[in-house]
Amino acid sequence: MSTLLHLDSSADRTMSRSRSITAAFASAFSAAGPGNVVVHRDLHADPLPHLPDASLHWAAGLRRPGAEPGQAAEALQQRLVAELLGADVLLVGVPLYNYSLPSSLKAWLDHVHVPGLTAPSAVSAAPLTGRPAVLVTSRGGNYDAGTVNEGRDHATPVLELVLGEEMGMAVSVIAIGLTLASAVPGLAAQAARGEREYAESLRLARELGERFGSASSSRQRGAGPEPLPRT
Ligand SMILES: Cc1cc2nc3c(=O)[nH]c(=O)nc-3n(C[C@H](O)[C@H](O)[C@H](O)COP(=O)(O)O)c2cc1C
Repeated sequence: MSTLLHLDSSADRTMSRSRSITAAFASAFSAAGPGNVVVHRDLHADPLPHLPDASLHWAAGLRRPGAEPGQAAEALQQRLVAELLGADVLLVGVPLYNYSLPSSLKAWLDHVHVPGLTAPSAVSAAPLTGRPAVLVTSRGGNYDAGTVNEGRDHATPVLELVLGEEMGMAVSVIAIGLTLASAVPGLAAQAARGEREYAESLRLARELGERFGSASSSRQRGAGPEPLPRT
């Protein structure tokens, strides 16, 4: 039995490709093991507040004397952190908005990246080390090397840095581009490629969902499932 924390953040509730791909992963994960649990948090439909007080960036024991973030804010943060720590696998839908993360997803990240709690500090270990995180990034344009957009996806690197390097998770990425090819005349010639990438991403998401759903819980085994190759 394993638990998946499934986050979506697309503001498109009908045609979103990141939502379709995360749904394919989650459904395969669910089917792969009896008793597997999927906790779904829709950060767009049910948005979190901005982090209301800077002291919440630190575990309680690391805050400046006199810090008073407020009980309700602390309770919300504790709920979000518990949800993350309780998951064997994290799945995140990441539409690219203005070359960056949707603000709804950034608000979640600001709540859960807490040195001393989810990231190592001078006084604590890293509880998420080796835990898998799968990012599903969906981008309207073409971000290939050599294109004008090369290096302009500033969403994926931030998540790789915070979830991977800071929090120690084993991050894999399923990336698609050209989702706007059928709507933007300048991209029309690449529409077929966009569709192929989408189909391939759905296939990969089902495969990975099945694979992670079949692995026994990292908390039961004391170690995370085998890390994935970079996709
Ligand atoms: C507010 C907003 C900003 C966007 N900014 C970008 C951008 O900077 N670069 C890009 O390639 N596409 C951009 N797009 C297009 C989305 O990345 C694209 O539609 C993607 O498929 C969204 O993911 P989704 O299909 O899961 O909703 C933007 C879309 C919206 C709604």
